[in-house]
Amino acid sequence: MRVRLTQSAEHAADLVAHEILTQLRAKPNLVLGLATGSTPIGVYTRLVDAYQSGAASFAKVHTFNLDEYLDLPASHHQSYRFFMQRHLFDAIDIPAAHIHFPPSEGQNLLRRCQQYETEIEDLGGLDIQLLGIGSNGHIGFNEPTSSLRSRTRIKTLTPKTRQDNARFYASDETQPTLAATMGIGTILGARTILLQAFGQKKAEAIRATVEGPVSSYCPASALQLHEDVTLFLDSEAASRLSMQDYYLQTQMHEEQLRREDRM
Ligand code: GLP
Repeated sequence: MRVRLTQSAEHAADLVAHEILTQLRAKPNLVLGLATGSTPIGVYTRLVDAYQSGAASFAKVHTFNLDEYLDLPASHHQSYRFFMQRHLFDAIDIPAAHIHFPPSEGQNLLRRCQQYETEIEDLGGLDIQLLGIGSNGHIGFNEPTSSLRSRTRIKTLTPKTRQDNARFYASDETQPTLAATMGIGTILGARTILLQAFGQKKAEAIRATVEGPVSSYCPASALQLHEDVTLFLDSEAASRLSMQDYYLQTQMHEEQLRREDRM
């Protein structure tokens, strides 16, 4: 697990966008796993800028979103589909048929969740999975106690998650209690995982993710089992890590070896 202590959320977004755009240049038909929430917005802004300045094209890219609320139509202002259209898809050249979401409406949800897995596999797997993290350590909507090998399925949201997201709903709106989400096993199948976390309210989840044991009680701790995962943290999110000096030193060594062209 690579821990990047960044100067700010803006700096983290620069680094993550740079990594995605570098991989996109090498592989124009990149398969991207995408996340929602306030955390990845800076990355999406930079991807849109890259497209609009002619530096990148998403015409051959396929995207798979991590999760979606059950029964919120794409037109609902709190649906993740709505969020993605607004922050990314409407502003780039990705064909509509290349945009994938886990099934969140209609019948046969479990069978269609399995199909979602097959669609990912048929395109050769996720090249990059972008992640945020919930204050309870969830990734996607894999809530505490989610199986570490889980695949795309329907999950019940915890009271903590609903409370964290309650601010987005008007008092007369019903907040969803269920969501379709990629599983932890699905996420671990991505070749590269980039997780961003900002602010004090993520500090405990980040401590448990990086320095705690692998446990389904902190779903993000399963990332310790992945061979290419980088966490991009601002100083508040990193504030409860006990080995910050070591992470900085590791980062310095890696940069030095790269500069010397030895990596
Ligand atoms: C939701 C999403 C997660 C996201 C989390 C954190 O619960 N399902 O994918 O990481 O929110 O959101 P934010 O980035 O707004 O803190």
